Amino acid sequence: MTPRKKTAILISGRGSNMMALISAALETDFPAEIALVVSNVPEAKGLERAAEFGIKTATVDHRKYPGDREGFEKALNSVLHENGIELVALAGFMRLLTPYFVNAWANRMINIHPALLPAFKGLSTHERALEGGVKLHGATVHFVSAEMDDGPIIIQGAVPVLDDDTPETLGARVLDIEHKIYPKALELVASGKAHVVDMRVTSGGTKRSEDILICPAD
Ligand code: GAR
Repeated sequence: MTPRKKTAILISGRGSNMMALISAALETDFPAEIALVVSNVPEAKGLERAAEFGIKTATVDHRKYPGDREGFEKALNSVLHENGIELVALAGFMRLLTPYFVNAWANRMINIHPALLPAFKGLSTHERALEGGVKLHGATVHFVSAEMDDGPIIIQGAVPVLDDDTPETLGARVLDIEHKIYPKALELVASGKAHVVDMRVTSGGTKRSEDILICPAD
């Protein structure tokens, strides 16, 4: 069996996507091992949850590097290298990363965003999806590039938008699909099935063109 890719998850908050990745990686045939969870926020709830699963945790507090993004990222990079990390998964990591860090992890760092990119980059995606009147919304996992919420798309999951949705109800439906697609994306990347060619990812994925979602359907 090929060695599992040593993966770090970077978080800033509760870490529900982190938990989805940890759960998937409990399977011994999953191609990634979650070797480390790092937060930029010492109080992040996800750190406790990771520790409960026996996963090593670390904090690199960005507030200790005022006005020095690269200093923060160098410290983060050191922690990753000290732990032999090969892949990085951002899971609700709410810091913008500079080209220094992004280039250091090119094609080895992935992110989950709660929208069907390239629509609704940035914050408040569910509010903006409702304001925009879209009928399908969802989540995207992509390789990280230097632009915010940008980079080759690995997988997307779509959900219907209901007439009476609030940002909270829609957000909960999207979060559910995030937890399904993020482990699949990590599996594709860690197993080497996801290839980036000309900013597009091929992964030998869906061949079923009948997998469609129409909303409203009735
Ligand atoms: C998730 O919805 C994730 O997609 C989003 O933050 C949330 C973190 O929740 N990320 C972004 O908005 C990044 N642009 P979690 O801590 O429970 O995984």
